[in-house]
Amino acid sequence: MVSVAVVGATGVVGSKLIEMLERYEIKYDELVLFASKRSAGKEVEVGGETYTIQELTEEAAKEKYDYVVMSAGGSTSEKFAPLFEESGAIVIDNSSFWRMKEDIDLIVPEINKPKFKRNIIANPNCSTIQSVVALQPLQDKFGVKRVHYATYQSVSGSGEGGIRDLEEGAKGAEPTTYPRPIHNNVLPHIDDFLDDGYTKEEKKMIDETKKILEDDSIEVTATCVRVPIMNSHAVQMNVTLGREASVEEVKQSFEDHPHIVLMDNPAENEYPTPLDAADRPEIFVGRIRRDPTLPNTFHVWCVGDNLLKGAAQNTVQILKSIMDDK
Ligand code: A2P
Repeated sequence: MVSVAVVGATGVVGSKLIEMLERYEIKYDELVLFASKRSAGKEVEVGGETYTIQELTEEAAKEKYDYVVMSAGGSTSEKFAPLFEESGAIVIDNSSFWRMKEDIDLIVPEINKPKFKRNIIANPNCSTIQSVVALQPLQDKFGVKRVHYATYQSVSGSGEGGIRDLEEGAKGAEPTTYPRPIHNNVLPHIDDFLDDGYTKEEKKMIDETKKILEDDSIEVTATCVRVPIMNSHAVQMNVTLGREASVEEVKQSFEDHPHIVLMDNPAENEYPTPLDAADRPEIFVGRIRRDPTLPNTFHVWCVGDNLLKGAAQNTVQILKSIMDDK
């Protein structure tokens, strides 16, 4: 008897989590869907059956579930993930709250496996996931010394509130989620600013890259930017390798990777865009070229669906790999 709970089931990522449970053929006997009080009683169709959304309470989190997948924000995860864990569940959490804690695994299944010091597993930041998937074959073949990220992140990464600001902004409404208008604009500001001038989103990309690739010596820097598109993130990566490589060798290492699609034919205007990546499980790369200003350095343009590999798909792939290992 396997029980699975989804927390944040009414959200943008939560509804994709439910879709991914089906797409990845996760087997369960019992499925429970949680959200906040305001959604309790709503009905959701999953696999031809109707489920009623439950309010997440402390009492509910004391029930025993085998697996809990969460995407309901940091404060909900902070409070409820340990309660589910204490009740005997393995929790896979999509918020940033647990990711950098020393005893918490931060997992991209193609790259690393949980060590289970605790039964809370963290799903990395959306832009970080797609970037490390692309960096890993480079690290394996040539070593990665340094990476500079510049992101172009869609509004669905901010949940319903981001989507609303873009849609309503187009009709002239003031933003309610972002500090400045996103319609017809770009914002070099994702998450809160820190004392050193970086944002928390940039810090997540810097810290999480090193943790997932298990290499503190990689120099990482980032500028994270919100752009007025609905879905899929793009990341411009400037990567310094550990040794000399040709453009062809770099392209080949992407071509050999089962989860990466190389789209790189400028003569035919072929390069990945957010529309190409939408609803696709792979990470797309293109515009591979040498950066002549630094030794062994290349530009890599990297695009992925932030709600799939950047969030729900990676979470469910973690769940599947844990279930398969049982
Ligand atoms: P609800 O829809 O009831 O507010 P998004 O990021 O797309 O806005 O979604 C956030 C998700 O997290 C929603 O499913 C939301 O439920 C859920 N959520 C927010 N706060 C809580 C909470 N305190 N307990 C449970 N679920 C929550």
